[in-house]
Amino acid sequence: PKVTFTDCEGISRAIDGNVGDSVMEVAMRNGVPGILAECGGSLSCATCHVFVREDEFASLPDMDDMEDEMLYATAIDRADTSRLSCQVRLTDDMDLHVTTPETQV
Ligand code: FES
Repeated sequence: PKVTFTDCEGISRAIDGNVGDSVMEVAMRNGVPGILAECGGSLSCATCHVFVREDEFASLPDMDDMEDEMLYATAIDRADTSRLSCQVRLTDDMDLHVTTPETQV
């Protein structure tokens, strides 16, 4: 599986990950800027906010209520395709595209 991260200036990085990794873990392991992940994935910081490409958003498993609630605490306002990247896990053959917000704090 692969995730392409595009930052707020339009610079893209395509990175291979492993099935079961979260998008946040792939970002952190590879030094992708634009994701802070202060809580390390425990769904309590909202600094791993990303915007998922619109046509891919619907194919992801639904978010749970806790993530939905935390998305109201992001530094940049949530959009219709917002997710917390620590809650999105890579699956076989995934080719996901996300954009990181201008700031996470
Ligand atoms: Fe803290 Fe995702 S890393 S909510």
